[in-house]
Order: sequence, then C-alpha cells, then structure tokens
Amino acid sequence: MRKEVIGNAELYLGDCREILPTLSGIDAVVTDPPYGISHSSNYGASWARTQIANDGTTAARDAVVDWANDLPGVYFGTWKTPPVAKTRACVIWSKGPAFGMGDLSLPWKPSFELAYICGNGWSGRRGEGVLTGPVVVSWESKGRLHPHQKPEWLMAHFIERLPDAFCILDPFMGSGTTGVAAAQMKRKFVGIECDEKHFANACRRIEDAQRQGSLFGAAA
Ligand SMILES: C[S@@+](CC[C@H](N)C(=O)[O-])C[C@H]1O[C@@H](n2cnc3c(N)ncnc32)[C@H](O)[C@@H]1O
Repeated sequence: MRKEVIGNAELYLGDCREILPTLSGIDAVVTDPPYGISHSSNYGASWARTQIANDGTTAARDAVVDWANDLPGVYFGTWKTPPVAKTRACVIWSKGPAFGMGDLSLPWKPSFELAYICGNGWSGRRGEGVLTGPVVVSWESKGRLHPHQKPEWLMAHFIERLPDAFCILDPFMGSGTTGVAAAQMKRKFVGIECDEKHFANACRRIEDAQRQGSLFGAAA
C-alpha cells in the first residue's frame, strides 16, 4: 500500500478491500467498478486483449457496497451482471451513436451504461434519468489513458448532487476521472487504485486539475 496526499485528495495504491477498513470520514461513493464481465477489448491500444483487475465477478464491487452501507453511492454497471444490492434508482448514460460493438448479429449497439443509485443524501433539481454529453476520445494515441475511462462531466454530474462538504470516495479510480471532477469542484476526495500504471496517471491528472483550479482561482 502507498499513500499520496495531493492538496485535498488522498490517493492510495492498493486493494480497496484492504484499505477501506482503515479509512474514516468518507461521506459518499462515486465509482466505476469492475463490472464482473471479464471484458477485454480487441482494439489496437496497449491494453488490447487484457482485462482490468477483478473483472471476473462483481465480488470487489459488492464488498465496497457492503462496506458503504447506507452512504449515498453511485456504482456504474451493466445489465449483464446482477444490480447492486439496495439500488434505489438507475440512471442511464447514453454514449451516443458511434459507440459499442456488442452482439453483431443484433440490430442494436450497446451504446449505454447503467449507474445504480444507492443510499441517502442525494439532492438537487429533479432532472432526466438519461444522461448525454461528450465522450472520452476513443484512441490511446489521442490521449485516452484507461480502457474504461469515463468523461469528467459524467462523474461531476453525481458529485454535484451531493453536499459541498462531503468527502467523495472512488475505490476503483482507474485513471482518476472522479478525482479530477472532484478537484474541479474543490471537493475532498479519497481515491484507491490497485494498478500501478493507472495509479500514476490518476495522481498526475488530479494534481494537474488542482493546479489549474488554483490558477483560475487566483486569476478570478
Ligand atoms: C472500470 S475501471 C475505472 C475507470 C475510471 N472510471 C476512469 O475513468 O479511468 C476500474 C478500476 O478498478 C481497479 N480495481 C479493480 N479491483 C480493484 C481493487 N480491489 N482495489 C482497487 N482498485 C481496483 C482496476 O485496476 C481499474 O483501473
């Protein structure tokens, strides 16, 4: 286990199931866990034909859900595996027309993902349950860092619906997108990632986002 403190973010390299019992002061979970579908992409990136850690089952996700108990939480997922226990609502992220290979014998692309909403403490204006917005660039050569990288606006959408003082946890932070959104909104953030390369990318992105935030803050 390694810990980096970057501004108001605490970032841990290690297995979240070992680190979570040592944490205190977490108010909400905003995360994109392994879906439990043993996914490997065929396309020509450095991660082609590899899987992210713990994607064989939903056990890692479910351990976090158990730990979080009634904390407000959003957990991304897919219809291919059982939903998160105690789900109160499901929000759809519509990825737009160009996305998804899926079963090529069917006349629909899998161009959406699910976000399971749990716990108490959500607030804000009541809006649509289908979210759309710009997607992350597809190609690694054009700056994509993680095979399952999410857009920053998408994670920000959920953080915005939690109180400003809340400390946000992403126990499966990948390249750090939730932490970048939290930094842009000046929220306290705790992130955990077990893969050293993704952890290094997350630290760098979150530090950059905080630095840009203080530059803009100083100019205002
Ligand atoms: C779906 S990806 C998250 C991608 C992230 N949303 C982004 O935008 O980059 C899930 C991440 O969880 C990590 N992971 C899997 N099991 C873990 C565990 N037990 N503890 C910590 N990280 C884990 C994987 O290495 C992977 O990077």
